[in-house]
Amino acid sequence: MLKEGSLEGKVILITGGGTGLGKAMGKYFLELGAKLIITSRKLKVLQKTTEEIFNVTKNEVFPFACDVSDFKQVEGLLKASIEKFGKVDVLVNNAAGNFISPTERLSNKAFDTIINIVLKGTYNCTLAFGKYWIENKQKATVLNIVTTYAWTGSAFVVPSAAAKAGVLAITRSLSVEWAKYGIRFNAIAPGLFPTKGAWERLLPGDLQNKFDLKKKIPLQRVGEHQELANLAAYLISDYSSFVNGEVVTIDGGEWLNGAGQFNILQTIPNEKWDEIEKIVRNVKGS
Ligand code: HXC
Ligand code: NAP
Repeated sequence: MLKEGSLEGKVILITGGGTGLGKAMGKYFLELGAKLIITSRKLKVLQKTTEEIFNVTKNEVFPFACDVSDFKQVEGLLKASIEKFGKVDVLVNNAAGNFISPTERLSNKAFDTIINIVLKGTYNCTLAFGKYWIENKQKATVLNIVTTYAWTGSAFVVPSAAAKAGVLAITRSLSVEWAKYGIRFNAIAPGLFPTKGAWERLLPGDLQNKFDLKKKIPLQRVGEHQELANLAAYLISDYSSFVNGEVVTIDGGEWLNGAGQFNILQTIPNEKWDEIEKIVRNVKGS
């Protein structure tokens, strides 16, 4: 979407960058000229991804294992990133954990686990890198990946919904507080983008056949990874330098479809509207 070299000179760190949407964003950022650091808990996965995307783009990728829920490891990630590239310009908080479950079946540890990856992981990275940028008077951009249920909430994924709502609050709060340091914060709220990580945990077994999720989406299809990567590239690039504190939804209209009171009327065929109009026009009195 952006022209060649749009991200040249930028060093970008993506948490959860070895798989799914993190991998898709990383590959596109490399194609646009950036250098990349990808991190998650599994070094082997990161190394395999590094090999794969380096072969396509020939730009430098640094895989580094880090559990973002552990602040000590995040400090190690910051140190290693600076040693490797001398700076980090962009942080993409993309790492997440999630699974469907009735909330009453969750142990307190299960709840902690999701909050620790999503919310704590995001503030650990934001705090470590933010302090570094402020101390070194370096401008930077943070892109947080949330979900559309960060503002609506959602049954059966309550720890994730609570954590993503917290990430959204961090995005909006720091976009104001740290603007004076030249640090921008934005977020993307993706709808349905098939990835192995999400689909196996959110639509396990035959649930995929049971619920046709495309039917919930006005555009009648799920998202393509490149579509999300396009938006992410714009939001971390200098083309969006006046966009700050924004959360951009990319879901084919899904969440609004669920929200609008009369959206259900879409199922009424066009020919039926003549009859309905006649009835409504004939209504008299209060
Ligand atoms: C109930 C469960 C459970 C389940 C785990 N637990 N799975 N409880 N139902 N299905 C409980 C465990 O019993 C344990 O509690 C606690 O949670 C921690 O589990 P571990 O397996 O020890 O944790 P860990 O190895 O850290 O794995 C974390 C994980 C795992 C989140 C459970 O799924 C993971 O690694 N996920 C990373 C990738 C991921 O989730 N990607 C999807 C992102 S999708 P006890 O008390 O028993 O010890 C996403 C999309 C949102 O965010 C929107 C889509 C539209
Ligand atoms: P994914 O492939 O499972 O990505 C999650 C990544 O997070 C994995 O690479 C995982 O790697 C990493 N991770 C988990 N725990 C971590 C930890 N403690 N420390 C560091 N890394 C950790 O799923 P995805 O679908 O691409 O999701 C990417 C982002 O998009 C997430 O923020 C998700 O909430 C959001 N999202 C996705 C969808 C969708 O439809 N796919 C919709 C809305 C929002 P390791 O296991 O190696 O640590």
